[in-house]
Amino acid sequence: MAGTDRFSFEKLFAKNAPVGAKTSFRRPKYDFAVAYPDPDTLPLEGLANAMRTALERDGKELSYYPDYVGLLSLRELIADKLVRDRNMKITAEDVVITSGSGEAISMIIQSLTDPGDVVITEEFLYLGTLRQMRRYSADVVGVKCDDDGMIPEELEATLNRLKGEGKRVKYLYTIPTFQNPLGWTMTLKRRKSMLEIAGSHGIPIFEDDCYVDLRFGGEDVTSIHSLDDSGQVIYVGSFSKIIAPGARMGYMVAPEELTLRAMSFKGGGGTNQLAAMAIEEYLKHEMYQHIDEQNRSLIVKRDAMLASLGENFGDTAKWAIPQGGLCVWLEFPEGTDLAAVQEQSFAEGVGYYNGTQFSPEGRGANFARLCYGHPSPEMVYEGVSELARVLERHGVIKP
Ligand SMILES: Cc1ncc(COP(=O)(O)O)c(C=O)c1O
Repeated sequence: MAGTDRFSFEKLFAKNAPVGAKTSFRRPKYDFAVAYPDPDTLPLEGLANAMRTALERDGKELSYYPDYVGLLSLRELIADKLVRDRNMKITAEDVVITSGSGEAISMIIQSLTDPGDVVITEEFLYLGTLRQMRRYSADVVGVKCDDDGMIPEELEATLNRLKGEGKRVKYLYTIPTFQNPLGWTMTLKRRKSMLEIAGSHGIPIFEDDCYVDLRFGGEDVTSIHSLDDSGQVIYVGSFSKIIAPGARMGYMVAPEELTLRAMSFKGGGGTNQLAAMAIEEYLKHEMYQHIDEQNRSLIVKRDAMLASLGENFGDTAKWAIPQGGLCVWLEFPEGTDLAAVQEQSFAEGVGYYNGTQFSPEGRGANFARLCYGHPSPEMVYEGVSELARVLERHGVIKP
């Protein structure tokens, strides 16, 4: 019989394998922490019908492992959409389907990042990307933004400073449309100047357009990718916000030489073909109708959040009115510590993420991101007021 000592892997771990976390997302009563879409407008019936149709027609294809780059008909649908909606000059050949855009982001980061490489981002950014950049030991440098996007003079000054320090900047990551967590959409002028500045320094732009379809106000602005003729822009998109995060379906568009490197980091024998078949069959008939329906629901939730913010935080915080996307970025006076009570707030039923989680330098405890996509309008309204009670109880804001 084997001994009772447990086998230990301790001395066997690869040097570059840090400890991860088996995190599951918590579900507090009022959940403003995660950028989930609206559960009531998930196209469940449409997807079920589409799945049946696709399986009856092409189901036997599932006996093969899928193409590494993903289902051709879905890649064609994505390419058509990006040509039509984002003015990109691409074909299905340029598209790779991934397990959420998170996988694409990780593949690109792994392809381009050596430990210590400098990466430029907005001063606050999607924490999943920030985590991946840190995972591969990038030196992440945030650049100051205003309501129009990253400030060109700040970008130029940062690049010149880094150059002076002998540091090599590998790429510039941006979320130009409904920036997560800041909420703004970068203007056309800013997109052009970002491209020009990055181009003059020989730096590629990594454009993450995760929220682009969730627009319910303001003018659409063309993709940075569409403004570039030199192959300097990498683009990623996602079906998480217009279908569902649980579908784990996203995509990337990159120059061939980068795609070939990135593919070496794609594991798991391709992307879920079953989900891809259902999504393609559904979207080819109902994409824009579904997006409209979803946005009509989101605007009501956004308005419920803005109304409750006005009533409960009118004297203590500032925020801009988002024209799309899933979140509001709240700014409290300098010195307010929303990081200190975040865990307690979750425990008391109100989930939010504070600014430090989105900041490369770990600053911004006086900011919070509140996502309004998932709770009903009534729960959004009620939950913001509950947040005010929690913050008052713990002395973060005055009653
Ligand atoms: C800006 C941004 N990019 C990418 C993602 C990743 O999305 P997914 O991996 O679900 O496609 C998210 C998720 O919230 C996000 O906010």
